[in-house]
Amino acid sequence: MWSSNVSTGAELSISAIPASQLAQDFGTPAFIMDEADFYARACTWSSALNNAFGSNAGNVYYAAKAFICVEVARWIKDIGIGIDVCTGGELAVALKGGIDPSKIELHGNNKSVAEINKAVASGVGTIVIDSLFEIDRVAEAATKNGLVQKVLLRLTPGIEAHTHESIATAHEDVKFGFSIASGAAWKAIEQVRTHASLELRGFHAHIGSQILETESFEISAQRLIALLAKYRDEFSAELPELDLGGGYGIAYLPGENNLDPELVMNTLAEVVTSACANQKLAVPRVSIEPGRAIVGPTMFTLYEVGTTKDVVLENGSTRRYISVDGGMSDNLRPALYEAQYTAVLANRSSSAKKISSRVVGKHCETGDIVIREIDLQSDIAPGDLLATPATGAYGRSMATNYNHVPRPPVIAVKDGKARVILRRETEADLLGLDI
Ligand SMILES: Cc1ncc(COP(=O)(O)O)c(C=O)c1O
Repeated sequence: MWSSNVSTGAELSISAIPASQLAQDFGTPAFIMDEADFYARACTWSSALNNAFGSNAGNVYYAAKAFICVEVARWIKDIGIGIDVCTGGELAVALKGGIDPSKIELHGNNKSVAEINKAVASGVGTIVIDSLFEIDRVAEAATKNGLVQKVLLRLTPGIEAHTHESIATAHEDVKFGFSIASGAAWKAIEQVRTHASLELRGFHAHIGSQILETESFEISAQRLIALLAKYRDEFSAELPELDLGGGYGIAYLPGENNLDPELVMNTLAEVVTSACANQKLAVPRVSIEPGRAIVGPTMFTLYEVGTTKDVVLENGSTRRYISVDGGMSDNLRPALYEAQYTAVLANRSSSAKKISSRVVGKHCETGDIVIREIDLQSDIAPGDLLATPATGAYGRSMATNYNHVPRPPVIAVKDGKARVILRRETEADLLGLDI
């Protein structure tokens, strides 16, 4: 839940810097990011993939959508893993951070022609094709640039992953990819093969996000391998790559656990090896795309309490509303898919009795709820700080300017030093768009 350099003692601190110091120096709300923890998690996923798959290990492509800024792109480059981007904007940040284009993979169910052209011209390693239209668009861009573009086909293996409906992505009735079951995938394979400017490297599937069991990943891998075998049978050639996507779940609440990288990778390596042996296929190069599992636990959000009020409920009990200075603009996930978080009093310890509370934001929406149900100390008052752990993934990256609230900064902390890596938006930034 908390990153490794956070201490939740009397006053919450990260790398020995107290929360109150961070609030004073950088203001609130703010995303506080544990730089060493990010490096460690990225390296752990990379070693887990390499140890499990050995010479068949492909790349870890960090999923930029979870969170990216230029400084984090520089870290990715330094760590030496790849990156998955799904828009021209994410591609621009990755390139600005100096990531080798050959380690970039471009995704997206509706990439614009301009995005495709930019990716191809930049030398992006792999484009994951998501529709029949896109096959021709990528082929045309490759021809225009005088190169052969490596591509994967995004497939939907027909899996109801155990996660919230909005973040399950591999059942049949979904906007992403080509269905294996309906034959759409086969049609796409045949169409790709008509283009000399495309090199079909293999298949990709991403079954969803925040998945905490390995079974869905195993079934997905087996279905992709069955299609690899069908391809070999039909065309007497084996495709060399599989990308099994991201989606590895993390702990948000006390008592929950992150999905263990070694466990998932070892399980997948066993499944892939035995499925390939059954099909008499060489084991392909296997890549993965973790986003949340790398960046999620590395950040917490620091808020200041502005107001509190007690509400008497129909059953006679009392609920305390604690309003903080952010909300759905910096953490959309509770409103979007009922995601649950926890929080702690961060600027001091308190032995006051804990009472039923709801942490809400400052936006003009009843649904602007950060934490629907939590027991917090009864003496929490305006000026206190609350810290919400595990907000690194899909927090700042999904942040909006709703109600013209400027988006919070990201402060990286390492070895007892804190620095801004993404500055706070200002009213001038917001007004700068008006003509
Ligand atoms: C294609 C693809 N890869 C990887 C990811 C990353 O997922 P996660 O952050 O759950 O690991 C996503 C998330 O939506 C995705 O769509």
